Amino acid sequence: MIAILSDIHANLAALEAVLERCEALGVTEYWCLGDVIGYGPDPVAVTRLAMDRFSVSLLGNHEEALVTGRHRFNPYAAQAIDWTREEIRSNSPTGLFKRGGSMWSWLKERKAFVLQKKLLMVHGSIYDPVHDYVDEPENPIEYQQMIHTLNTDFSGFDVCFAGHNHTPFMATAMGTLIPHDAHNTFRMPKGHKMYICVGSVGQPRDHDSRSSFAVLDGEAITFHRVAYDVALTQQRIKAIGLHPFLGERLASGM
Ligand SMILES: [Fe+2]
Repeated sequence: MIAILSDIHANLAALEAVLERCEALGVTEYWCLGDVIGYGPDPVAVTRLAMDRFSVSLLGNHEEALVTGRHRFNPYAAQAIDWTREEIRSNSPTGLFKRGGSMWSWLKERKAFVLQKKLLMVHGSIYDPVHDYVDEPENPIEYQQMIHTLNTDFSGFDVCFAGHNHTPFMATAMGTLIPHDAHNTFRMPKGHKMYICVGSVGQPRDHDSRSSFAVLDGEAITFHRVAYDVALTQQRIKAIGLHPFLGERLASGM
């Protein structure tokens, strides 16, 4: 049983709540689709957990911005990534962590995509694995484009797991499925092409403040939501001096 997480964004309270649920579910492996850090108040503790627990952890646009200094972030995200860089650097003595080298080196060495049999993992989309967004097909033209992509551009893999859009859904050539509390498990028949967007652990943007992630168990994919202590993360953001908007948005799930 594999948990697929994304966009933790240095939200320790959210990650701890998700890990606790995963342990109760019997998860044996963790894949992370990127953006372990950025925006949030606990990059060191969250990166340490990621290094220790995740067998896959991809490069997100925030890891890229951290190590290169290049980005097109809004001022709130830019302030947060500059603060994060100093935090990680000052907490990166070598040799302390399980999977080799310092925290800084680990973040720098993340891969942009991983292919495992028929499953592709990216942060963004198949067109740009770090930056592009899989947009939820809300109008007929976008929907037709999604079907075209799935039928023609998914080559050598059937399923693409993506993060970055902070919104959970499953797009197939037959339609888009949006999980909700009453219906959150779907079958993934062999040979069907699909995008599975797992949502965000640390900063959901689908008007639901609860952490979002997915669990893969054979051909079944289940989307989960877990409530966490939003107020605690907001307090941490305030105490550090990151912009209050970064805390406010957590409560509204936007
Ligand atoms: Fe993100």
